[in-house]
Amino acid sequence: ESHKLWGGRFSSETNPKLEKLNSSLHLDRRMYAEDIEGSKAYAVALEEIHLISNSEKEDICQGLDRIRIEWDKNEFITKNGEEDIHTTNERRLKELIGEPATKLHVGRSRNDQVVTDMKLWLKTNLATLKNAIRLLIDTIVTRSLKEIDVIMPGYTHLQRAQPIRWAHYLLSHAWSLKNDYDRLLNNFQLLDVMPLGSGALAGNPFNIDRLKLAENLHFSQITPNSMQAVSDRDFIADFLFWASMVGIHLSRLAEDFIIFSSKEFEFVTIDESFSTGSSLMPQKRNPDSLELIRGIGGGLFGQCCSFMMVLKSLPSTYNKDLQSDKEAMFTTFDKLTSILEVTTGTVKTLKVNSEKCRSALSYEMLATDVAYYLVRKGVPFRTAHHIAGRVVAEAEEKNVNICDLTLEELRSIR
Ligand code: ARG
Repeated sequence: ESHKLWGGRFSSETNPKLEKLNSSLHLDRRMYAEDIEGSKAYAVALEEIHLISNSEKEDICQGLDRIRIEWDKNEFITKNGEEDIHTTNERRLKELIGEPATKLHVGRSRNDQVVTDMKLWLKTNLATLKNAIRLLIDTIVTRSLKEIDVIMPGYTHLQRAQPIRWAHYLLSHAWSLKNDYDRLLNNFQLLDVMPLGSGALAGNPFNIDRLKLAENLHFSQITPNSMQAVSDRDFIADFLFWASMVGIHLSRLAEDFIIFSSKEFEFVTIDESFSTGSSLMPQKRNPDSLELIRGIGGGLFGQCCSFMMVLKSLPSTYNKDLQSDKEAMFTTFDKLTSILEVTTGTVKTLKVNSEKCRSALSYEMLATDVAYYLVRKGVPFRTAHHIAGRVVAEAEEKNVNICDLTLEELRSIR
């Protein structure tokens, strides 16, 4: 017997190549708990409007609990050719409890089910990313406090600009991450709007109490338009964009440390536990951790961009194109989690070489301070800037540091 949910109008088998392409179970099995939670709440709602009896509801909920345990224990057995998590859970429920299982899906479609599952999943799992970002920020802050006295050159255009504290530099990355953290807390209200009860597209004709359903599933609102609800993946796009932004921040941090760890700079030494060697050149110690962060961090935007292209020009309501939302969401989630963790480890264990940092400072980096000295003496800034520039030129000409020019020489500068 075919375990397809839609076998009724079909007389021949699905082509195996299509079956393979069509299946999302290898990805959406990660949402088994959310799928079960949604189904249990839906069973409760069906009982309230007397579409199923109390004992049928009990059977359904107990069956679903058993399925949940099977998944938890990694004992759930999926069948070849099963389409997705919704299909496989329903098939198993029927095996376990028989007929009542066949009543659960009334008024519901996989179209409102899948988007409910995904919102539930993301709501829960964003906490992992939130903690990972927090941990990285904490790591940076702890280092900054401990190494507050390390001074180094600050760069613009990768040219020595002004002396700065290492802590000032480190914290600049933490502040970008703090913005990401705040956006994570504030930008995800769309996740809190429940689509369940939208049916395939036309809504639920049985008058189920959606507000109560939302409350049971811990959503604060319900979607107002069923056609929009089943096609809406804006919350995924938001997530992908947010993740891309974090990825870009991490890639910039990584790039800095790749440069700073080169022999030419040697401001930092990446710990052995976060570097690798070369199979050919025995002396090499490569900052692979940082290069992976830089590459993967950039790649996250590829996911975002590609999913936006899937959304573009889709006709209204549900289309199977949308199934690629799972790959985009899970891949992005996993990659971002892992580069956040590796960034934290790399930043935590690297060594800052304060001597190297200090010796990279040069006196002409104080030219701005020469100008500010004159400003404090009442010279207008543009004039002061010009004079300080002349001081640098004079020192360069005499092949000395600006601090080695005599008072007389300095006074003669116009
Ligand atoms: N696996 C599908 C997805 O992820 C679930 C929705 C299927 N709906 C449908 N009408 N075929 O998008």
